[in-house]
Amino acid sequence: MLAAFAKSQSADDPLSGLEVGERPDPQAPEGWTTVRLRTAALNHHDVWSLRGVGLPADRLPMVLGCDGAGVSEDGDEVLVHAVVASPGWTADETLDPRRSLLSEVHDGTLAEVVAVPRHNLVPKPAGLSWEHAACLPTAWLTAYRMLFTNADVQPGSTVLVQGAAGGVATALVQLGSAAGLRMWVTSRDAAKGEQAVALGADRAFENGARLPERVDAVMETVGAATWSHSINSLRPGGSVVISGATSGDAPSKAELTKIFFKQLRVVGSTMGTRDELERLARFVVDAGIEPLVDSVMPLADARDGFARMVEGRVAGKVVFTV
Ligand SMILES: NC(=O)c1ccc[n+]([C@@H]2O[C@H](COP(=O)([O-])OP(=O)(O)OC[C@H]3O[C@@H](n4cnc5c(N)ncnc54)[C@H](OP(=O)(O)O)[C@@H]3O)[C@@H](O)[C@H]2O)c1
Repeated sequence: MLAAFAKSQSADDPLSGLEVGERPDPQAPEGWTTVRLRTAALNHHDVWSLRGVGLPADRLPMVLGCDGAGVSEDGDEVLVHAVVASPGWTADETLDPRRSLLSEVHDGTLAEVVAVPRHNLVPKPAGLSWEHAACLPTAWLTAYRMLFTNADVQPGSTVLVQGAAGGVATALVQLGSAAGLRMWVTSRDAAKGEQAVALGADRAFENGARLPERVDAVMETVGAATWSHSINSLRPGGSVVISGATSGDAPSKAELTKIFFKQLRVVGSTMGTRDELERLARFVVDAGIEPLVDSVMPLADARDGFARMVEGRVAGKVVFTV
């Protein structure tokens, strides 16, 4: 089958290890099944894998991709949930210490066929296009859990999103504004900030700007470059929810004193559960949300999509048709 896979890794030149070519069809062990993919999408996670972060070299070659939607062996249209729990785990799978994401231990979704546990199939609601379905399982699910499970906010609360154009950032803006939250964003680029306002953000600021008032919660995926601003932007008792550290995980100022003195909550958040993915898909359709798609291209051209992400040119999700 055709697949985009990591053949080797380089911290400085991630595209050098990317190969788009033939791989064997995956085999489904007991309790697993296969999905013939119609669409798949790119996440920064795939770039980290090519940089050698989170994917040990002895597991190569590995088919990349955590986002996908397609047709099951039974002929049903499904979304693929990417969090693979360890055998026998029945609680929240994001808390399973032995969980993995597709493409970390098992081949991922940037392929014609993917094998997943049967439990990981989520019905694709009628009314959700194949392109939009592929956007949801990773960045959008992460945004959903950050906002609705971990942020402790209500309609009318003000939420700052660090970054404006990324997959998680655009999902946060679109989900939050649809749910009645006042969404503010920061961006390195004024045009990306304006695009976030067009998507539903209330206001956009440049990175590090002094805000008109302190916010109830901050959504962090940028990390070192914005951490200090996040802590300084929160009202006493507010929450920073962090699910990524694109610019590095060692900020020059950890702001520990401000965290305890203002009694802030620092909440880690990773992916979401299968049931959260099912609710997310329903919410997206019922609320008429159309996930922002940066570009759509055939899987055979995956290298172009990876290049857009590595160069920071992405606005929304890069979707591959299979
Ligand atoms: N924990 C989880 O389960 C989980 C799930 C999904 C993603 N993540 C992580 O979350 C991060 C974002 O993922 P993604 O797929 O949304 O990536 P992406 O599409 O490449 O987006 C990157 C974002 O970071 C911002 N950014 C990058 N470098 C920056 C810098 N130096 N200063 C300020 N802003 C910067 C960009 O904002 P502008 O371009 O607007 O400035 C953009 O919003 C990644 O690190 C990813 O690994 C974690």
